[in-house]
Amino acid sequence: MMRTQVGIIGAGPAGLMLSHLLALEGISSVVLEAHTRDYVEQRIRAGLMEHFSVELLRQCGVGARMDREGLVHHGIVLRFGGRSHRIPVTDLTGKSMMIYGQHEVVKDLIAARLAAGGQILFEAEAVGIDELHGERPRIRFRQDGREQQIECDIIAGCDGFHGICRPALPLGALTVYDKIYPFGWLGILADVAPSNDELVYANHERGYALLTMRSPSVSRLYLQCAPDEDADAWTDEAIWAELRTRLADDSGFVLQSGPIRQKGVTAMRSYVVEPLRHGRLFLLGDAAHIVPPTGAKGMNLAFADVVVLSRALIDWYRKRNGDGLDSYSATALRRVWKAERFSWWLTSLMHRFEHATPFERRMQAAELDYVTSSRAAMTTLAENYAGLPLG
Ligand code: APR
Ligand code: PHB
Repeated sequence: MMRTQVGIIGAGPAGLMLSHLLALEGISSVVLEAHTRDYVEQRIRAGLMEHFSVELLRQCGVGARMDREGLVHHGIVLRFGGRSHRIPVTDLTGKSMMIYGQHEVVKDLIAARLAAGGQILFEAEAVGIDELHGERPRIRFRQDGREQQIECDIIAGCDGFHGICRPALPLGALTVYDKIYPFGWLGILADVAPSNDELVYANHERGYALLTMRSPSVSRLYLQCAPDEDADAWTDEAIWAELRTRLADDSGFVLQSGPIRQKGVTAMRSYVVEPLRHGRLFLLGDAAHIVPPTGAKGMNLAFADVVVLSRALIDWYRKRNGDGLDSYSATALRRVWKAERFSWWLTSLMHRFEHATPFERRMQAAELDYVTSSRAAMTTLAENYAGLPLG
């Protein structure tokens, strides 16, 4: 049987960052990943990093490529009623954001772990977790058609929303808080320079649209659509036409189109389980909580969980002090819930809700007006957008 200190299930941002931070402190881990390295490195996800995540990457020595290739952003544009309103995030908060694709972060973390001799087992699917209440919990996994086991001190469930850790817990061990939105996002990646330097969030009567980017020559755009929309039913021309309509403004904004390299539909949901610990199993990132993509908090929240747990593990291994492990769930959840609130709020503010009453539509319009005209309201948006402190 293999043995490690921390057994990590999942090589997404959560699992990889945890393994990296622990290694810097001399704590051993093994990361199990069901997919291939290529798969996790190519998986297109959101690409907006909070100030905190940018600083984290720098401080732990994996920020060099991000600093070379990432795009620093100081504000965003909210567009509604055909008018554009800039929120000067850096002026209001002193913090900036970085556009850098999540899969690029994953590539950098994998490279750092492998260069340091770290163990990431690809195509190794965890199939069960045992002895969670003992001193030696175990992960059963399958690789090359063989079932094997790893014995550890702690298991970190970083296996995303569809992983095995959360469902492995006994009924009643967790409380689920869940909200499903009546729409999805049709997202495209296109080989064309972004038509605006900053992100544009548009609330249009035909539905929400977002202009974002990956590099000076690659645009990423999203359209609100039905939750079960068939992306293939949309021709490239139809996507560009719809984006042009929803992103139009009264100042002559022109949306440049180009070849669409990739398209897909994302579901929209808010989801949290409590607590984030069961015996020697700790849940982190998407395994424990999901936010709708508005505001792109997913990876940032995963990193916040990782920082809280890694500090707790360092105290536990160095000083045999388990207080941090005992408070992990409560500490991480405070930030999780605030990001849940913000993602839900920004989603509610920017989307078209088909069944909204005329009163509710007026409320949304009044809120848009308020948030773009009151410095206090803009500051609230900006401080949540750039990211709240850890504590
Ligand atoms: N065994 C091994 N690996 C598994 C298993 C399993 N049984 N189940 C899932 N995994 C792997 C998945 O293949 C995936 O690579 O766990 C990884 C989980 O990674 P993510 O889904 O990226 O989750 P997380 O690391 O928490 O990152 C959160 O990712 O989903 C986005 O928007 C989300 O940005 C957020 C971030
Ligand atoms: C993205 O770049 O994919 C992105 C950016 C901001 C969001 C959502 C997604 O609010």
